[in-house]
Amino acid sequence: MTQTAPRLMAVDDPMIESETLNRPPIIEIEDLNKVYRTRRHGDVNALSQINLTVRDGEFIALVGPSGCGKSTLLKILAGLLPRTSGNVTINGSALDGPSRDIGVVFQQPVLLPWRNIMQNVLLPLEFGRDRTREDLQGRALELLKMVGLEGFETRYPEELSGGMQQRAAIVRALIQDPRMLLMDEPFGALDAMTREQMNLEVLRIWQQNKKTVLFVTHSISEAVFLADRVVVMTPRPGAIAEILEIDLPRPRRLEMINSEQFGVYATRIRRLLNAMEDLS
Ligand SMILES: Nc1ncnc2c1ncn2[C@@H]1O[C@H](COP(=O)(O)OP(=O)(O)OP(=O)(O)O)[C@@H](O)[C@H]1O
Ligand SMILES: [Mg+2]
Repeated sequence: MTQTAPRLMAVDDPMIESETLNRPPIIEIEDLNKVYRTRRHGDVNALSQINLTVRDGEFIALVGPSGCGKSTLLKILAGLLPRTSGNVTINGSALDGPSRDIGVVFQQPVLLPWRNIMQNVLLPLEFGRDRTREDLQGRALELLKMVGLEGFETRYPEELSGGMQQRAAIVRALIQDPRMLLMDEPFGALDAMTREQMNLEVLRIWQQNKKTVLFVTHSISEAVFLADRVVVMTPRPGAIAEILEIDLPRPRRLEMINSEQFGVYATRIRRLLNAMEDLS
Protein backbone atom coordinates (compact mmCIF):
# COMPACT_ATOMS: atom_id res chain seq x y z
CA MET A 1 0.00 0.00 0.00
CA THR A 2 1.32 3.45 -0.85
CA GLN A 3 1.50 6.39 1.53
CA THR A 4 -1.26 8.19 -0.34
CA ALA A 5 -3.82 5.40 -0.15
CA PRO A 6 -6.96 6.47 1.71
CA ARG A 7 -6.92 5.44 5.32
CA LEU A 8 -9.60 2.87 5.98
CA MET A 9 -11.60 2.79 9.16
CA ALA A 10 -9.88 -0.31 10.43
CA VAL A 11 -10.36 -1.31 14.03
CA ASP A 12 -6.69 -1.96 14.59
CA ASP A 13 -5.75 1.47 13.30
CA PRO A 14 -4.01 3.15 16.26
CA MET A 15 -4.79 6.63 14.84
CA ILE A 16 -8.52 5.97 14.84
CA GLU A 17 -8.39 4.48 18.30
CA SER A 18 -6.53 7.40 19.81
CA GLU A 19 -8.77 9.87 17.93
CA THR A 20 -11.82 8.34 19.56
CA LEU A 21 -10.26 8.21 22.99
CA ASN A 22 -9.03 11.78 22.76
CA ARG A 23 -12.39 13.26 21.93
CA PRO A 24 -13.70 15.50 24.68
CA PRO A 25 -16.62 14.31 26.78
CA ILE A 26 -19.93 15.85 25.76
CA ILE A 27 -22.26 14.17 28.26
CA GLU A 28 -21.04 13.41 31.77
CA ILE A 29 -23.36 11.56 34.13
CA GLU A 30 -22.24 11.14 37.73
CA ASP A 31 -24.01 9.13 40.41
CA LEU A 32 -27.38 9.79 38.83
CA ASN A 33 -30.44 8.52 40.70
CA LYS A 34 -34.10 8.85 39.91
CA VAL A 35 -36.98 8.06 42.24
CA TYR A 36 -40.55 8.62 41.04
CA ARG A 37 -42.68 9.60 43.99
CA THR A 38 -46.18 8.33 43.36
CA ARG A 39 -49.28 8.65 45.49
CA ARG A 40 -50.65 5.20 44.74
CA HIS A 41 -47.50 3.10 44.58
CA GLY A 42 -45.11 4.99 46.83
CA ASP A 43 -41.55 5.56 45.69
CA VAL A 44 -40.43 3.89 42.47
CA ASN A 45 -36.65 3.62 42.19
CA ALA A 46 -36.08 3.98 38.47
CA LEU A 47 -32.34 4.67 38.18
CA SER A 48 -29.54 3.85 40.56
CA GLN A 49 -26.03 5.28 40.53
CA ILE A 50 -25.64 5.79 36.81
CA ASN A 51 -22.12 6.86 35.80
CA LEU A 52 -21.41 7.35 32.12
CA THR A 53 -19.24 9.63 30.04
CA VAL A 54 -20.20 10.01 26.40
CA ARG A 55 -17.51 11.39 24.10
CA ASP A 56 -18.20 13.92 21.40
CA GLY A 57 -19.25 12.13 18.22
CA GLU A 58 -19.81 8.77 19.88
CA PHE A 59 -22.70 6.46 19.07
CA ILE A 60 -23.97 4.81 22.22
CA ALA A 61 -26.70 2.17 22.31
CA LEU A 62 -28.62 1.50 25.49
CA VAL A 63 -30.23 -1.91 26.08
CA GLY A 64 -31.93 -3.37 29.14
CA PRO A 65 -35.05 -5.12 30.33
CA SER A 66 -38.39 -3.37 29.96
CA GLY A 67 -38.98 -0.91 32.81
CA CYS A 68 -35.29 -0.59 33.75
CA GLY A 69 -35.26 3.18 33.27
CA LYS A 70 -33.97 3.74 29.72
CA SER A 71 -36.67 6.25 28.79
CA THR A 72 -36.29 7.86 32.21
CA LEU A 73 -32.57 8.37 31.55
CA LEU A 74 -33.21 9.89 28.12
CA LYS A 75 -35.93 12.19 29.45
CA ILE A 76 -33.59 13.42 32.17
CA LEU A 77 -30.83 14.10 29.61
CA ALA A 78 -33.35 15.88 27.38
CA GLY A 79 -34.16 18.16 30.32
CA LEU A 80 -37.78 16.97 30.35
CA LEU A 81 -37.66 15.28 33.74
CA PRO A 82 -35.93 16.33 36.98
CA ARG A 83 -33.33 14.00 38.49
CA THR A 84 -33.46 13.01 42.15
CA SER A 85 -29.71 13.25 42.76
CA GLY A 86 -26.41 13.24 40.94
CA ASN A 87 -24.78 15.48 38.38
CA VAL A 88 -25.25 15.76 34.64
CA THR A 89 -23.00 17.95 32.54
CA ILE A 90 -23.86 18.59 28.91
CA ASN A 91 -21.22 20.18 26.76
CA GLY A 92 -19.45 21.60 29.80
CA SER A 93 -22.50 23.10 31.54
CA ALA A 94 -24.67 21.68 34.29
CA LEU A 95 -27.92 20.36 32.85
CA ASP A 96 -30.90 22.58 33.61
CA GLY A 97 -33.87 22.05 31.32
CA PRO A 98 -34.18 21.42 27.59
CA SER A 99 -31.25 22.51 25.46
CA ARG A 100 -30.98 23.39 21.78
CA ASP A 101 -27.87 21.21 21.71
CA ILE A 102 -30.13 18.19 22.05
CA GLY A 103 -32.64 16.76 19.59
CA VAL A 104 -35.03 14.04 20.70
CA VAL A 105 -36.76 11.31 18.70
CA PHE A 106 -39.39 9.27 20.53
CA GLN A 107 -40.70 5.78 19.86
CA GLN A 108 -43.78 7.18 18.17
CA PRO A 109 -43.15 10.02 15.76
CA VAL A 110 -45.63 12.35 17.59
CA LEU A 111 -46.28 14.54 14.59
CA LEU A 112 -49.16 16.97 14.92
CA PRO A 113 -51.92 15.62 12.64
CA TRP A 114 -53.29 19.06 11.73
CA ARG A 115 -49.94 20.29 10.44
CA ASN A 116 -48.35 19.23 7.19
CA ILE A 117 -44.85 17.75 7.14
CA MET A 118 -43.06 21.07 6.59
CA GLN A 119 -45.04 22.71 9.40
CA ASN A 120 -44.24 19.77 11.65
CA VAL A 121 -40.51 19.76 11.04
CA LEU A 122 -40.34 23.53 11.52
CA LEU A 123 -42.12 23.30 14.88
CA PRO A 124 -39.00 23.60 17.08
CA LEU A 125 -38.05 26.93 15.55
CA GLU A 126 -41.24 28.46 16.87
CA PHE A 127 -39.54 28.31 20.25
CA GLY A 128 -36.26 29.76 19.01
CA ARG A 129 -35.36 33.22 17.85
CA ASP A 130 -32.05 33.55 16.14
CA ARG A 131 -32.61 32.11 12.66
CA THR A 132 -35.07 33.28 10.06
CA ARG A 133 -37.89 31.15 8.80
CA GLU A 134 -36.48 31.24 5.26
CA ASP A 135 -33.14 29.95 6.51
CA LEU A 136 -34.74 27.02 8.22
CA GLN A 137 -37.15 26.27 5.44
CA GLY A 138 -34.15 25.77 3.17
CA ARG A 139 -32.48 23.60 5.78
CA ALA A 140 -35.70 21.61 6.24
CA LEU A 141 -35.88 20.94 2.51
CA GLU A 142 -32.27 19.73 2.50
CA LEU A 143 -32.91 17.40 5.42
CA LEU A 144 -36.19 16.09 3.97
CA LYS A 145 -34.31 15.32 0.80
CA MET A 146 -31.58 13.58 2.76
CA VAL A 147 -34.11 11.21 4.35
CA GLY A 148 -36.00 10.61 1.10
CA LEU A 149 -39.03 12.80 1.85
CA GLU A 150 -38.55 15.35 -0.89
CA GLY A 151 -41.93 16.23 -2.35
CA PHE A 152 -43.85 15.30 0.79
CA GLU A 153 -43.62 18.73 2.46
CA THR A 154 -47.30 19.55 2.07
CA ARG A 155 -48.63 16.09 2.91
CA TYR A 156 -50.19 15.40 6.28
CA PRO A 157 -48.85 12.74 8.71
CA GLU A 158 -51.75 10.33 8.11
CA GLU A 159 -50.81 10.25 4.42
CA LEU A 160 -47.34 8.90 5.25
CA SER A 161 -46.26 5.37 6.23
CA GLY A 162 -44.88 4.71 9.73
CA GLY A 163 -41.30 4.77 8.43
CA MET A 164 -41.86 8.02 6.58
CA GLN A 165 -43.39 9.62 9.67
CA GLN A 166 -40.40 8.53 11.71
CA ARG A 167 -38.09 10.09 9.10
CA ALA A 168 -40.01 13.35 9.45
CA ALA A 169 -39.59 13.13 13.23
CA ILE A 170 -35.83 12.69 12.74
CA VAL A 171 -35.74 15.77 10.52
CA ARG A 172 -37.61 17.71 13.18
CA ALA A 173 -34.99 16.63 15.74
CA LEU A 174 -32.19 17.71 13.38
CA ILE A 175 -33.65 21.03 12.28
CA GLN A 176 -31.83 23.11 14.88
CA ASP A 177 -28.61 21.24 14.16
CA PRO A 178 -28.22 19.86 17.68
CA ARG A 179 -24.89 18.30 18.61
CA MET A 180 -26.60 15.43 20.34
CA LEU A 181 -29.47 13.19 19.34
CA LEU A 182 -31.39 11.17 21.91
CA MET A 183 -33.40 8.40 20.29
CA ASP A 184 -35.83 6.28 22.32
CA GLU A 185 -36.61 3.07 20.41
CA PRO A 186 -37.28 5.13 17.33
CA PHE A 187 -37.83 2.16 15.02
CA GLY A 188 -39.65 -0.22 17.36
CA ALA A 189 -42.90 0.04 15.43
CA LEU A 190 -41.39 -0.51 11.97
CA ASP A 191 -41.19 -3.72 9.95
CA ALA A 192 -37.80 -5.44 9.79
CA MET A 193 -36.80 -4.22 6.34
CA THR A 194 -37.74 -0.60 6.93
CA ARG A 195 -35.94 -0.81 10.24
CA GLU A 196 -32.72 -1.96 8.57
CA GLN A 197 -32.99 0.88 6.10
CA MET A 198 -33.58 3.38 8.87
CA ASN A 199 -30.56 2.05 10.75
CA LEU A 200 -28.34 2.68 7.74
CA GLU A 201 -29.87 6.12 7.40
CA VAL A 202 -29.21 7.01 11.02
CA LEU A 203 -25.59 5.93 10.62
CA ARG A 204 -25.27 8.07 7.52
CA ILE A 205 -26.77 11.10 9.26
CA TRP A 206 -24.54 10.53 12.27
CA GLN A 207 -21.41 10.23 10.16
CA GLN A 208 -22.20 13.09 7.78
CA ASN A 209 -23.26 15.52 10.48
CA LYS A 210 -20.87 14.39 13.22
CA LYS A 211 -23.51 14.06 15.90
CA THR A 212 -23.34 12.33 19.23
CA VAL A 213 -26.12 9.75 19.51
CA LEU A 214 -27.69 7.96 22.46
CA PHE A 215 -29.96 5.28 21.08
CA VAL A 216 -32.31 3.10 23.14
CA THR A 217 -33.33 -0.21 21.62
CA HIS A 218 -34.71 -3.62 22.56
CA SER A 219 -32.91 -5.20 19.65
CA ILE A 220 -29.49 -6.60 20.52
CA SER A 221 -28.42 -6.78 16.88
CA GLU A 222 -29.54 -3.21 16.25
CA ALA A 223 -27.43 -2.10 19.22
CA VAL A 224 -24.31 -3.95 18.04
CA PHE A 225 -24.80 -2.87 14.44
CA LEU A 226 -25.07 0.82 15.26
CA ALA A 227 -22.94 1.54 18.28
CA ASP A 228 -19.38 2.33 19.26
CA ARG A 229 -20.34 1.19 22.75
CA VAL A 230 -23.34 -0.72 24.05
CA VAL A 231 -24.47 0.07 27.58
CA VAL A 232 -26.30 -2.89 29.15
CA MET A 233 -28.59 -2.01 32.04
CA THR A 234 -29.89 -4.13 34.92
CA PRO A 235 -33.59 -4.52 35.78
CA ARG A 236 -35.14 -1.71 37.82
CA PRO A 237 -33.71 0.18 39.54
CA GLY A 238 -31.67 0.53 36.39
CA ALA A 239 -27.91 0.47 36.92
CA ILE A 240 -25.19 -0.11 34.38
CA ALA A 241 -24.33 -3.82 34.24
CA GLU A 242 -21.65 -3.62 31.56
CA ILE A 243 -20.36 -1.41 28.79
CA LEU A 244 -19.12 -3.19 25.65
CA GLU A 245 -16.82 -1.55 23.11
CA ILE A 246 -17.91 -2.65 19.64
CA ASP A 247 -14.78 -2.93 17.55
CA LEU A 248 -16.42 -3.46 14.17
CA PRO A 249 -15.11 -1.44 11.24
CA ARG A 250 -17.00 1.58 9.91
CA PRO A 251 -18.85 2.22 7.79
CA ARG A 252 -20.99 -0.63 9.03
CA ARG A 253 -22.54 -2.89 6.42
CA LEU A 254 -25.52 -5.18 6.82
CA GLU A 255 -23.37 -8.26 5.98
CA MET A 256 -21.42 -7.65 9.17
CA ILE A 257 -24.41 -8.98 11.10
CA ASN A 258 -23.38 -12.45 9.92
CA SER A 259 -19.75 -12.10 10.98
CA GLU A 260 -18.26 -14.10 13.82
CA GLN A 261 -17.21 -10.99 15.70
CA PHE A 262 -20.75 -9.60 15.55
CA GLY A 263 -22.06 -12.89 16.92
CA VAL A 264 -19.62 -12.76 19.84
CA TYR A 265 -20.88 -9.32 20.89
CA ALA A 266 -24.54 -10.23 20.45
CA THR A 267 -24.12 -13.45 22.44
CA ARG A 268 -22.35 -11.63 25.25
CA ILE A 269 -25.18 -9.09 25.56
CA ARG A 270 -27.87 -11.78 25.31
CA ARG A 271 -26.17 -13.80 28.08
CA LEU A 272 -26.01 -10.74 30.31
CA LEU A 273 -29.68 -9.96 29.78
CA ASN A 274 -30.74 -13.58 30.28
CA ALA A 275 -28.69 -13.89 33.45
CA MET A 276 -30.42 -10.82 34.83
CA GLU A 277 -33.81 -12.22 33.95
CA ASP A 278 -32.99 -15.41 35.85
CA LEU A 279 -32.06 -13.35 38.91
CA SER A 280 -35.17 -11.16 38.90
N1 LIG B 1 -44.20 9.07 35.63
C1 LIG B 1 -43.92 7.96 36.30
N2 LIG B 1 -44.38 7.77 37.56
C2 LIG B 1 -44.07 6.67 38.25
N3 LIG B 1 -43.32 5.66 37.80
C3 LIG B 1 -42.84 5.79 36.55
C4 LIG B 1 -43.11 6.92 35.74
N4 LIG B 1 -42.49 6.78 34.54
C5 LIG B 1 -41.88 5.59 34.62
N5 LIG B 1 -42.08 4.99 35.81
C6 LIG B 1 -41.52 3.71 36.27
O1 LIG B 1 -40.11 3.80 36.21
C7 LIG B 1 -39.55 2.59 35.71
C8 LIG B 1 -38.71 2.91 34.49
O2 LIG B 1 -39.55 3.35 33.43
P1 LIG B 1 -39.00 3.67 31.98
O3 LIG B 1 -40.13 4.11 31.15
O4 LIG B 1 -37.83 4.58 32.10
O5 LIG B 1 -38.47 2.22 31.53
P2 LIG B 1 -37.86 1.73 30.14
O6 LIG B 1 -36.57 1.07 30.44
O7 LIG B 1 -37.89 2.82 29.18
O8 LIG B 1 -38.92 0.59 29.73
P3 LIG B 1 -39.36 0.12 28.25
O9 LIG B 1 -38.20 -0.69 27.73
O10 LIG B 1 -40.55 -0.76 28.53
O11 LIG B 1 -39.68 1.33 27.44
C9 LIG B 1 -40.72 1.67 35.43
O12 LIG B 1 -40.86 0.80 36.53
C10 LIG B 1 -41.92 2.57 35.35
O13 LIG B 1 -43.09 1.95 35.81
MG1 LIG C 1 -38.92 3.15 27.37
